[in-house]
Amino acid sequence: MTIESIQETASVTLESDNQGSCLCINNKHAQVRISLFGAHVLSYINKSDGRERLWLSKEAIFDQHTPIRGGIPICWPWFGAANNKFPANSPSHGFLRTQVWNLNHAEELILNNQVQETNLVLVPNQLSAFGFEHKVRVRLLVKINDKLNLQLETTNLDDCALTVSQALHTYFLIPRISEVVIDGIAEGYSDKLSGQFVQESPQPYNIDREVDRIHRHMNGNAVFIRDKETNKPRAKVSQRGHDSLVVWNPWIEKTARMSDMSKDGYTTMLCIEAANIDGLEIKAKETHTLEQIIY
Ligand code: BG6
Repeated sequence: MTIESIQETASVTLESDNQGSCLCINNKHAQVRISLFGAHVLSYINKSDGRERLWLSKEAIFDQHTPIRGGIPICWPWFGAANNKFPANSPSHGFLRTQVWNLNHAEELILNNQVQETNLVLVPNQLSAFGFEHKVRVRLLVKINDKLNLQLETTNLDDCALTVSQALHTYFLIPRISEVVIDGIAEGYSDKLSGQFVQESPQPYNIDREVDRIHRHMNGNAVFIRDKETNKPRAKVSQRGHDSLVVWNPWIEKTARMSDMSKDGYTTMLCIEAANIDGLEIKAKETHTLEQIIY
C-alpha cells in the first residue's frame, strides 16, 4: 500500500506542506504534483519545454475541507448543482473532490536508468455521502510519460444500472485570456448563463466575456488553446468517454465574488472540462472510463 509502493519507486515521493499531503512525481518527461485531498492534480510541468500546463489559484484554500481552486478537480457523482434526488445542502460538483484519496498502486517503467513512465492508481476513502448510496468502485488511473493521462474509472458493482454525471475539470494556465483562441470545438453549446442552446460554436473561438458553455462534443479530436500572435499551441488536450466539453471562464464580476481567486485570476486561466453531463448510465457490473490526456 501507500508508503511501501512509494518506497519501491524512484519517481514518486510523498510530501506534506501547506498544500497538505501530495504525491510528487518526477520522471524523465514530467514533474507532477497530486494532492491526496481530492486526488487533485495541482501541477503538471512537461519537461519537453519546461512549461507549467495547469493554473492554480494564488488564493486557493488548502484546509482539507474546501474544494481546491485550479488544477484538475474531479467532479463526481454529479456535475454542477446536485439534482433534486439529493439534499439541498449537497455540494457543487459532487463530493469526491473533497474526499481524502489513497495511493493504491504505483509502478514505473525504467529504461537506461531513467524512469520513462510512472503509473499510479488512487482510490477515494469514501464513496457514499449526501444520500448517494450505491455499490460502486471508483479509481483514478494516472499515467505520466511524455503526456499526462488521467482515467476516471467508475465500476457499477450493483445488480441494477447506475446513473452519474462527472467531469475532469481542468484549469489550463494561459499567458493572457485576450491572447488565445480555442481550436477544435465545432459543436454548438448549451449556454449555462442564458439557458439557451446556441447552434454554432464561435469561430474564431475568443474568450472576451464570462463563458459557461456545455458543448456537445462527442468525438475524440484534440482541442488546442492557441496563441493568437505566434499561432503556437499553449495547450493540447484530448478526451474519451465523455458526452460534452465544458468551457468556463468566470470573467470579472464572478471572479470578484469568489473568495479563492484574486481579482485578475480569470486573465490567466481557461477551463476545458471533459464531462458527462446528460446522465451517464452504467449497466450492472460494467465499468466506464472518462479519460483526458494533456500534452
Ligand atoms: C464549471 C461550471 O464547470 O465549474 C460553472 O460550469 C461553475 O457553472 C464552475 O461556476 C466552478 O464551480 P465551483 O463549484 O468549483 O465553483
